Amino acid sequence: MTPAIDFSGRRALVTGGASGIGEMTAKLLAELGAAVMLADLNRDALPAALERTGAAAWTAGDVASEDDSERMVAEAADRLGGIDLLFNSAGIGDDLVPLHRQTTARWRRVFDVNLWGTLLISRAAGSLMVAQRRGAIVNVSSIVGLDAFPGRSAYGVAKAGIGHLTKTLACEWGEYGIRVNAIAPAYTKTPMVKDLLDRKVFDPGIIERRTPLARMAETEEMAKAAAFLLSDWASYVTGVVLPVDGGWSAYGAAGDVVKIRHE
Ligand SMILES: NC(=O)c1ccc[n+]([C@@H]2O[C@H](COP(=O)([O-])OP(=O)(O)OC[C@H]3O[C@@H](n4cnc5c(N)ncnc54)[C@H](O)[C@@H]3O)[C@@H](O)[C@H]2O)c1
Repeated sequence: MTPAIDFSGRRALVTGGASGIGEMTAKLLAELGAAVMLADLNRDALPAALERTGAAAWTAGDVASEDDSERMVAEAADRLGGIDLLFNSAGIGDDLVPLHRQTTARWRRVFDVNLWGTLLISRAAGSLMVAQRRGAIVNVSSIVGLDAFPGRSAYGVAKAGIGHLTKTLACEWGEYGIRVNAIAPAYTKTPMVKDLLDRKVFDPGIIERRTPLARMAETEEMAKAAAFLLSDWASYVTGVVLPVDGGWSAYGAAGDVVKIRHE
């Protein structure tokens, strides 16, 4: 058995690789030996992300566009000589308003980037993996895709859809030696969440009290879970949506209403 995760000789495509969870995962995959291609909508951020992560190359485009998705996957396969690993991290948050105040355009965009983007990139990369009869994909759901969060209908439906897509693709592609899993992160200290904290949209104290591990996650903690699922250490794991949430989804008590004595 290999004593450590080793991605030597593996070729990885990471969407949303210019920031946050995608960037940190790209960095970890590269450190563990993979040749990594970053794909992101934010063209300006990609060159610096390439430096920070040690990735081999980058490509810019919108995962929600069929043309861009197919082009980015083709570029990655060209540049790296194929794709063995895919991490679908590109995503955007929503406006935290109830459905009756949500515009069609905004709802659609949040849904399209998160779910449709994951589907389009997975279809393009998955076609190559089916042909080579090998591959591993990790998608990014969310605790918001596991349970209902008011004000997050577009994001929640998309993230729940990613969970279901993950299981479906695992069943469709298992016979080709392709594993498909997802992580479901809770609040993670990325630029996306830091911005919401700065604008006081979230109260960190409430999040910490609601989380059994009593803190928010670091991006490294998401990267390590993703790397495990992408690696041969998870060779018999497929169709799983793994909460990486400090116990958030296990917690069923009434929050601050219940006080237990620890001594
Ligand atoms: N941070 C959290 O607390 C948290 C919790 C649960 C799930 N997630 C999910 O994790 C993933 C990464 O989020 P993050 O917190 O690292 O955010 P982030 O904003 O730091 O990074 C997201 C990256 O995706 C890129 N992106 C956005 N739209 C794109 C598009 N249409 N095409 C290509 N790239 C696009 C952005 O430019 C950015 O570089 C997202 O799917 C998010 O929904 C985050």
